[in-house]
Amino acid sequence: MKTTVSKWKRAAKSRVRNIAEFGGIRRKPLNQYQDAVRRLYDGPQGAVLHLSSFFSLHEPLMGQLFKSRRFDASRFDRILDVGSGAGQIIRHLLETARPDAEIVGFDLSYEMLKRARERLNSNRPAFVAADMLEMPFRDNTFDCITCGYVLEHIPDPFPGLSEFARVLKPGGTALLLVTENSLSGLVTSHTWKCRTFSRRELREACQNVGLSWHRELWFTRFHEMLKLGGILVEVVKEG
Ligand SMILES: C[S@@+](CC[C@H](N)C(=O)[O-])C[C@H]1O[C@@H](n2cnc3c(N)ncnc32)[C@H](O)[C@@H]1O
Repeated sequence: MKTTVSKWKRAAKSRVRNIAEFGGIRRKPLNQYQDAVRRLYDGPQGAVLHLSSFFSLHEPLMGQLFKSRRFDASRFDRILDVGSGAGQIIRHLLETARPDAEIVGFDLSYEMLKRARERLNSNRPAFVAADMLEMPFRDNTFDCITCGYVLEHIPDPFPGLSEFARVLKPGGTALLLVTENSLSGLVTSHTWKCRTFSRRELREACQNVGLSWHRELWFTRFHEMLKLGGILVEVVKEG
């Protein structure tokens, strides 16, 4: 009886979410969503992405996560930042990764990579423009992937996460930051034309490709107490 009620509750919640969140991305076939993403990030909204990350406190809070070593980037030799945007995560990687670690920034939008390069003003990261569904890297290349607010831009997370599992070395780590199906997540979905995830949904998608849910993180205690700030999780490639 209890299981039926909770199943019913979950189905009702997901129906409400599907009505309330931006639906465009889920309706796009996998071979068409790229144009919409490029248009959005190449254009004026992409040009102010760094400001939006600053005023929403995402960028400074992410900085704390790295600087406090709650996510310790100094463990890694080769780091791939997927969906680098304006370089919000790479900026922190440059400060906290080992000086000999390789850092690669990756994005579908060439314009965003140009903006990231200008903003970071560093020759250290390599930049690659491509789609995360077909990453131009060999199997088992990186020991770390960071991916902030990108999975919500693809209609189905499975092919993207499969690529993460392919290019990560066995035992490698991915730090995923993902828009959650909360009230603020629904607003984000309309502003940035993306979808949202429940923790359960993301966890299952990761497990399906052999990425095990290692530990959930929070920006601050306050975020943890009030369950704010979206999904931050460290996943590990099995094997
Ligand atoms: C919201 S921004 C995230 C920026 C940064 N990672 C952060 O944490 O704030 C999303 C970025 O993901 C990129 N993106 C979206 N879909 C992508 C895909 N399929 N492959 C590669 N990059 C993608 C967009 O071009 C955009 O620059």
